Amino acid sequence: MNSSDIRQMFFDFFKSKQHQLVPSAPIVIKNDPTLLFTNAGMNQFKEFFLGNTIAPYKRIVDTQKCLRVSGKHNDLEEVGVDTYHHTMFEMLGNWSFNDYFKTEAIQYAWELLTEVYQLDKNRLYVTVFEGDIKENLPASSIALEAWKKLVPMDRILYGNKKDNFWEMGDTGPCGPCSEIHFDLRSDEEIKQIPGRDLVNMDHPQVIEIWNLVFIQYNRKKDGSLEKLQSTHVDTGMGFERLVRVIQNKNSNYDTDIFMPTIHYVEQLTHLKYDFGHSKQAIAFRVLADHIRAIIFTIADGQLPANTGAGYVIRRILRRAVRYYYSFLKYQQPLLYKLVPLIAEQFKTIFPEIQAQINFIEKVIEEEENNFLNTLSKGLKRIDDIIQEMKLGDTIHGDLVFELYDRYGFPTDLTRLIAQENKMNIDEIGFEKAMNQQKNRSKAAAIQNVSDWIILNNELTQFYNPYQQFEKKIVSKLIKYRTVETNKTEFIQFVSGSLATDTNHTIPFYAESGGQVGDRGKIYFGQEAIDIIDTKKENNLIILTAEKKPANFNTPIQLEIDTTKRGLVSAHHTATHLLHAALRNILGKHVTQKGSLVNEHVLRFDFTHFAKLTDTELQAVEDLVNKKIQEKIQVVTEEIAKSEAMQKGAMALFGEKYGDLVRVVTIDENFSIELCGGTHVQNTKELISFIILHETASAAGIRRIEAIAGNKAIEYYQQQLLQFNQIKNQLQPSKFPLKAIENLMIENNLLKKENEHLQQFQIQQISTQLKNSIKKIKEINFLFAKVNLPFEQVKKSAQLLSNESNTFICLYTILEQKISIVVAVNKNIAYLNANQIIKEIISPLIQGNGGGQAFIASAVGIDTSKINLIEERLQTIIQ
Ligand code: SER
Repeated sequence: MNSSDIRQMFFDFFKSKQHQLVPSAPIVIKNDPTLLFTNAGMNQFKEFFLGNTIAPYKRIVDTQKCLRVSGKHNDLEEVGVDTYHHTMFEMLGNWSFNDYFKTEAIQYAWELLTEVYQLDKNRLYVTVFEGDIKENLPASSIALEAWKKLVPMDRILYGNKKDNFWEMGDTGPCGPCSEIHFDLRSDEEIKQIPGRDLVNMDHPQVIEIWNLVFIQYNRKKDGSLEKLQSTHVDTGMGFERLVRVIQNKNSNYDTDIFMPTIHYVEQLTHLKYDFGHSKQAIAFRVLADHIRAIIFTIADGQLPANTGAGYVIRRILRRAVRYYYSFLKYQQPLLYKLVPLIAEQFKTIFPEIQAQINFIEKVIEEEENNFLNTLSKGLKRIDDIIQEMKLGDTIHGDLVFELYDRYGFPTDLTRLIAQENKMNIDEIGFEKAMNQQKNRSKAAAIQNVSDWIILNNELTQFYNPYQQFEKKIVSKLIKYRTVETNKTEFIQFVSGSLATDTNHTIPFYAESGGQVGDRGKIYFGQEAIDIIDTKKENNLIILTAEKKPANFNTPIQLEIDTTKRGLVSAHHTATHLLHAALRNILGKHVTQKGSLVNEHVLRFDFTHFAKLTDTELQAVEDLVNKKIQEKIQVVTEEIAKSEAMQKGAMALFGEKYGDLVRVVTIDENFSIELCGGTHVQNTKELISFIILHETASAAGIRRIEAIAGNKAIEYYQQQLLQFNQIKNQLQPSKFPLKAIENLMIENNLLKKENEHLQQFQIQQISTQLKNSIKKIKEINFLFAKVNLPFEQVKKSAQLLSNESNTFICLYTILEQKISIVVAVNKNIAYLNANQIIKEIISPLIQGNGGGQAFIASAVGIDTSKINLIEERLQTIIQ
């Protein structure tokens, strides 16, 4: 059975049990401040569990792209070393939202594994939660009863909170779980030690394949558990492990999911994968694993970067590069070459890779090149460090940290190189330096969020930022909390109304799709409080203010800042026109890679491999302006996603869309986009569109900044004002351009004249100075003060030193500063001007300077040592 069949059978089985198949959510998370990446299938359903939103289906089946390298579930260091952990993996799941519960979930799981996949029942073990006294949680008796009907008692094990109570993070929905484990060992091994003794003991052959979680609680910020109003099922089966078990392999990597990549790396490196535990074998596995994490996250819109989610990707990519660089002896970019293979492998289930293949390759190759460069610099640095040490020495912890921090060298690489040179590394010192850095970055971004304080839990939120926004809307607070960021306290409000009262919607637009959140006011009776931002968290609309009202329990009125909203909407519509114009002028390869829409500017990032020419930019700007002049109605409608796709609507990679989507059309032959943002009603409201800049944003991505609407008028007005000011300065000319040309001609003439005058002055002063030259032994020596700008003084020193055997030292003093120049003729170059300035004169004048052997100068602040300088110089030349 190949892996695609195995996935399909999972879908088909649950479809036959009335489950709706839904697509995976993006692997990069946008709307949840507690997570960077999807780390479990349940993330995209969190809002259904918490009761913020009602699930569109009671039963769902899916495969979810997950990444576990940061936060609570972090496996990075295990990956490749063992045979069953991954960075990116697929999680197959079946879901019940307030529908079936423990008994059915257990029956389904058993039926699928033993009857559809026909796994050997004698090798399967299951666990149930034993309860926890401290948390006041009972043992799972219902799960136990359900299992007892299917599995003999000696295959059912009790598990503690660590293994059998599943939580997605520090806070959020959670509950007891039942795990299913499989024993892959040989019959002989099983005879010696029964599988039940090895369950949850990190044995590489006795592995968990499926986790059935029964969501019953919400873990709050203060650590307490809150019982949820309804119960749900969340199951997660590691696809790669399942395939390994069905294909009866020793390792996940031996399956048809990873072997093609491993074979391709063999071809590229001319090395053989031996399935073992050498560093070389680990390197093969690391590459086969990491390339997937890198590709999937880039495809979902996350580029490698220095912070946040981008930094996690960068670390994974660097780990892969280090492994091929050190252990496969491959010293040029390799990862990007694997992209077509992975794209092909996933083309039906995750087509977003194939669709962006060139872009993904380009981003990875550039990132690899940069890191290989840093790596070789780091190797040079470690070489220098080692040169200065003796055999048996220890490399200081701070240096190990510098290698880690600046050159991306993890300790194992530094340790390896140290060992090869018969040295050690100071592990404790490194840990210390590392902790110091962690504390520094923690201090920089402390955000303390309190639990919600509930006021009216029976209310619901109706979000509609698209209509009626000029009216004050009456509503009530559901709850509020405080958020402290860098010692500033903010208050966050969640407002709502009765379920029967759908008119009282929330008019504030919550930041999303690049468009900033609305500002405005919230009135508690007479008291108006400014709302400074609006955000969305798991579909909850949150209004942020700087202070609390005196009285929370009054009806409230909501009012948005319509001026800001108008500017932002104009920029959003202009962004759609720009996107369409770019695809029109540059080609269909242009796709959106990021956008910011606020009241000041619109910023649009898109895939394109070259700088735009002036002609292209002009054509894009002209096309957008043409669409503005055509006065096109902006049409927004909610339709089925399939219908929108048929119309050719542009969807973004890495965005999560429901079955019903909002479509914004501006001339159906020009721009149709899926979009939740706010827009103007007619393109004529944009008045004019102006591109301000076009720059590079990252590998393969260009960035345009532009303005439209009232911002464009403001811009023209400012330009006009400046122009009028210039014109006034050029009075009384009626032809400012001509007047500027004349000024430039005049200016050039004056410059030339000035140069002649200076030349003349230098000649004159030099002739005068010549008379003061003394002869000391063979040498013509001059030491003198000159009252001219220092540039001219230097020139005369140079001129005078053209005579052979001549040594000139001139200085000026201006505003307590002394500037001094030494010039010598080439025939006495042993009197090195640079050395004299640096070693003798600079210390005496408390200054700095340098130059060449024939001419050098310095500036200093001590003007009292003139005589001493002259004496010294005379001594030198004697
Ligand atoms: N949420 C559980 C897990 O990730 C089951 O899906 O293991």
